[in-house]
Amino acid sequence: MKILSEKLTVKESKDSSLADMIYDAIIDEWQTIKLYDEIIGAAKANGIDKIVDVIDDIKEEENRHVGQLQQVLSTLNRDIKPIAAGEKEAKGQVEK
Ligand SMILES: [Fe+2]
Repeated sequence: MKILSEKLTVKESKDSSLADMIYDAIIDEWQTIKLYDEIIGAAKANGIDKIVDVIDDIKEEENRHVGQLQQVLSTLNRDIKPIAAGEKEAKGQVEK
């Protein structure tokens, strides 16, 4: 942590803590998405297909939340900006 002034130190500490909370929220979103996948699988396995579309719709919202939170995190932590480059690189690799 840079200690240029008392004010700056406090600001950076708050940003770091906020970034950590956003990071935790992203993890929670992915865990929720995984749970929805499991619910969809269980519903299909039990022949309760009428709830699959509803849960899948909710899951898509969670995917959007991941993207939104990722963008928020990138404004708080400069270190994660290479993620977009990694996504582009991997997309090129899997589409070969
Ligand atoms: Fe969410």
